[in-house]
Amino acid sequence: MDKLDHTLGVHAGREDLRELGVHALPLDMSTTYPVTSLEQGTQSLDDLVAGHAEAENPVYARLFNPGVARYERALAAAEGAEAAVAFSSGMAALTAAVLATRERGNHIVAVRPIYGTTDHLLTSGLLGNEVSWVEPDTIADAIRPDTAFVLIETPGNPTLELIDIADVVAQAGDVPVIVDSTFATPVLQRPIEHGAAMVMHSATKFLGGHGDVIAGIMACSETWAARLRQVRVATGALLHPWAAYLLHRSLPTLKLRIERAQAVAGELARRLAEDPRIERVYYPGLPDQDGDGLMQRQMEGPGCVLSFDVAGGYTPAAEVISCVKLMTPAVSLGSVDTLIQHPAGLTHRVVDESDRNNCGIREGLLRLSVGLEEVEHLWSDLDQALAAAHARRSKAA
Ligand SMILES: Cc1ncc(COP(=O)(O)O)c(C=O)c1O
Repeated sequence: MDKLDHTLGVHAGREDLRELGVHALPLDMSTTYPVTSLEQGTQSLDDLVAGHAEAENPVYARLFNPGVARYERALAAAEGAEAAVAFSSGMAALTAAVLATRERGNHIVAVRPIYGTTDHLLTSGLLGNEVSWVEPDTIADAIRPDTAFVLIETPGNPTLELIDIADVVAQAGDVPVIVDSTFATPVLQRPIEHGAAMVMHSATKFLGGHGDVIAGIMACSETWAARLRQVRVATGALLHPWAAYLLHRSLPTLKLRIERAQAVAGELARRLAEDPRIERVYYPGLPDQDGDGLMQRQMEGPGCVLSFDVAGGYTPAAEVISCVKLMTPAVSLGSVDTLIQHPAGLTHRVVDESDRNNCGIREGLLRLSVGLEEVEHLWSDLDQALAAAHARRSKAA
């Protein structure tokens, strides 16, 4: 299937607009829909509750919204998937996957590092699940008859570890593999092509791209999509139509944004890697960080997020967060502006300290989500913040 090129980005999911006689995406805010006959309403309700992608009448907005469905068609095309199902957040999408796979069992196999709240959701067993945290090469040993799915995140949040999707799929056998591809987006990685059963996105990030929408989406086969829709109808985690509108409006510029931010991220990573104030940079685009060529095989590029350990640990790292002026000191990622945050203190705070340490989330680690600004402006901001942190450190010593 076609890759997410600029043409697909601009036109996907908009196939019916000409017929509707409109140019911009229509926004349908109805919560309920008049039925033309009771029979029509009943049949449509039955269809949507059973997980069909559409029905003659939407009946009620928790069951269906045409704008959400349009965005789902677009994202499915971008991922090379049969279907996609959109949710009110990335975590709602993952929750729906846990519930939709429950028939297989309640055991999940997962790999760290992974987004902090994902780690917390699985570890806490809030959804009645059990989890085995394993290394990527021991997945096969962890599979049990009641394993519902294998979950990996690649690149991983926050240390950008890459996992070989095809290898994980081979190890999992008939157990479905879910790939959180939030950091890559379909511009850089299409996990379905490597055998993944479902591809998850926190659409809050690059897919939204402007820091103004919370959303999640799961791209998968029509069979899995029907199960996910059943869960969504019953649990009510549908994406809001306005959020779907914003996501769909952001799709034509996704590739441009990724390409631009990735070029800037690459330059910042190179400069940081040579900087004595930095202990280590995590970015799969650096020459020494793709030893076995996985990034080249599996991705179209290393992406727009990088992390680095500030020499001296927590105190200088916290100082950098306080001293940046152009960058936004905030969690989240994938916005047009550059965001910098401290994973151990914020996004991964909910993960046990020892588990954090074991997967490289140390006290001096900062994560940078690079935006669209000029590289020299970003560098001088980072440079002055590092200088301030370093000066304070020298004074203290
Ligand atoms: C990789 C990844 N997956 C999932 C999520 C959760 O998504 P949301 O915040 O949209 O629920 C996040 C949020 O930061 C994330 O970074």
